[in-house]
Amino acid sequence: MGHARLEELMQRGTDFLGCEVAVLGGAMSWVSERNLVSAISNAGGFGVIACGAMTPELLDTEIAETKARTAKPFGVNLITMHPQLSDLIDVCGKHGVGHVVLAGGLPPGGAIDRIKGNGAKLIAFAPALALAKKLMRSGADALVIEGMEAGGHIGPVSTSVLAQEILPSVCNDIPVFVAGGIGRGEAIAAYLEMGAVGVQLGTRFVCATESIAHANFKKAFIRASARDAIPSVQIDPRLPVIPVRALKNREMENFAAKQREVAGLLDTGTVEMAEAQLQIEHYWAGALRRAVIDGDVESGSVMAGQSVGMVTKEQPVAEILDELMEQAAAALESRA
Ligand SMILES: Cc1cc2nc3c(=O)[nH]c(=O)nc-3n(C[C@H](O)[C@H](O)[C@H](O)COP(=O)(O)O)c2cc1C
Repeated sequence: MGHARLEELMQRGTDFLGCEVAVLGGAMSWVSERNLVSAISNAGGFGVIACGAMTPELLDTEIAETKARTAKPFGVNLITMHPQLSDLIDVCGKHGVGHVVLAGGLPPGGAIDRIKGNGAKLIAFAPALALAKKLMRSGADALVIEGMEAGGHIGPVSTSVLAQEILPSVCNDIPVFVAGGIGRGEAIAAYLEMGAVGVQLGTRFVCATESIAHANFKKAFIRASARDAIPSVQIDPRLPVIPVRALKNREMENFAAKQREVAGLLDTGTVEMAEAQLQIEHYWAGALRRAVIDGDVESGSVMAGQSVGMVTKEQPVAEILDELMEQAAAALESRA
């Protein structure tokens, strides 16, 4: 009975995504590539490629390689500030990618039209109720609300508060997926009961057997508890940086130094604010690569959400999804 109720609650989400369980594998730069993305989709969830700073050529290859590994639907996450955003959208269009997720700020109007013109569905992040409504008016087909418990770049508000503020007002009009801090199925059941059509998880998939993250990166996740995943600190009030949640390590000092360097460039007029912010983003991409790919978990950035405490071992994606669905179904059954 729990499983039937779970299926019913996820129905709008699974219909929208075209998969079996309404769980998006949140795009994670360097981690969400062909192997993990296809494994999530093959296991019945919805994998999402993290384009990050990839060139259009690299994205083209990544999509083709993912298609070679799964016949199931998957999505592509693009960052709005990427200088070649239009070309990246066209690469998705060329491959007939059904769902494009736009991250990193409000999507420019031209990007929305281009994505929809290619026949894809647009999923956008809504960091507040007013912005959720604005995104709906602008043509978003679904929303993700992501709380500050999440790994990677974060907003200031927790998942539980965003869910209460946004779900009751918009959940009948647009499918909403909840992200940030979800480590077990009981939480999935709760957000579905509040009106979400599904969820997005990142941290929980990092230690999947199919994830190419370096063994050191996975080990750091398995050892860490929730309190180890802390947000970065803004050093200079003139240089607003979006906080990033990652495991505490030496890299945090590197980031402080990088902020001082970029703030200095701003002071001397060597760079404008947009360029300064782009430099910070490039810093993150490099620091994350050092940790995920090279395994340098001391001077690289080990981005992780607070749910990292619930990551206890390496296990196949299918097992992770089964566990989550069993927990969610049991929770729903016990409440019936
Ligand atoms: C290592 C890592 C890298 C991430 N990179 C991205 C990214 O490139 N683009 C993006 O939109 N979100 C990124 N995220 C956020 C995830 O897509 C997802 O929304 C988030 O992990 C969900 O919260 P959780 O970590 O509590 O499960 C990243 C998260 C992690 C842990």
